[in-house]
Amino acid sequence: MGEILGIGVTHFPGLMLPDAYMSSFLTRTLKSNRVPAEMKEPARWPEPLRQELAANQDGKAAAEHRRRLVGGFRKAREALDAFAPDFVLIWGDDQYENFREDGVPSFCVFALDAIDSRPFGRPGRSEQGNVWGESPDKVVHVRGHRAAGCHLAAELIKADFDVSYAYAMRHELGLPHAFINTILFLDYDRRGFPYPVVPFHVNCYGSSVIAKRGSSAHLTGTADPNAVDPPGPNPSRCFDVGAAVARSLADSPWRVALVASSSWSHAFLTGKHHWIYPDVASDRARFDELASGNFARWRKLTTTQIEDAGQQEFLNWVCLAGAMDALGRKAEIIDYVESYLFNSDKCFALFRPAA
Ligand SMILES: [Fe+2]
Repeated sequence: MGEILGIGVTHFPGLMLPDAYMSSFLTRTLKSNRVPAEMKEPARWPEPLRQELAANQDGKAAAEHRRRLVGGFRKAREALDAFAPDFVLIWGDDQYENFREDGVPSFCVFALDAIDSRPFGRPGRSEQGNVWGESPDKVVHVRGHRAAGCHLAAELIKADFDVSYAYAMRHELGLPHAFINTILFLDYDRRGFPYPVVPFHVNCYGSSVIAKRGSSAHLTGTADPNAVDPPGPNPSRCFDVGAAVARSLADSPWRVALVASSSWSHAFLTGKHHWIYPDVASDRARFDELASGNFARWRKLTTTQIEDAGQQEFLNWVCLAGAMDALGRKAEIIDYVESYLFNSDKCFALFRPAA
């Protein structure tokens, strides 16, 4: 019988950057001519955003944000090491890295032997540097688990979940940001990350995965702002896929950590706020459901609700919720970090096996 540990974290790229660049998402948005001029006036912004900005005049808000996030990752890593998994499955969004014009599946399981990545070589980011002082050419080697990836894809297909699978990544930099950032942050103290990884892509961006180039092309003027792609998988499907993953792995010989990696509402996806700040109220509602043991309600969310709240990446957590619901687990909250300034709210949670 397999053993499973559930973990929820973020892969917020700002944590990789020096403090001075942590609010660069807002800086970029305010340069966009798609944001109405009057909405660029701080007087039109919510008071908590103005307060965070004031607190960040001397970089203190960024330092505090980092302190909370690093603390969350250290606790998650401690639980991971104590559990000592045979492999770590990570649910992560694709942001125009593997899923491009020539093929966009709803889900893809990667059955890899190993993969080399260059996480600091991303165009537009390398000149900002990184907190570890690594060169843009630095190669990070991560072990995969081809047998587990193959087994899981086969079991899901047999159970009527038509996931795709792949033996290689097309992304030029190796592991896409959702996976490599998670690994780097779980190893923030640079002790090494010894666990094989099974990346499990979710088409979280759905109607904007190509249109927004998986990020902010709608703001930077590099794509048609009115283009709409077919949707990603519904929250109910993500929840059910997660449950099927848990059932399959519970019957496997492996000890597995199931990791959902994403921040929740993203400012640059929240059109109703002119992409300036995230939907903090919706995130708080989701957090209350998580903390009170009612996260099975996430199965009833609609794609319209998810997109309205800029919570596209939250679908990774919905996969984890389905898995943990199937196992009868409750969430142990490590931390919940709200922010209007640093693009998104972040949550850290564990779902431990019964002692
Ligand atoms: Fe992401």
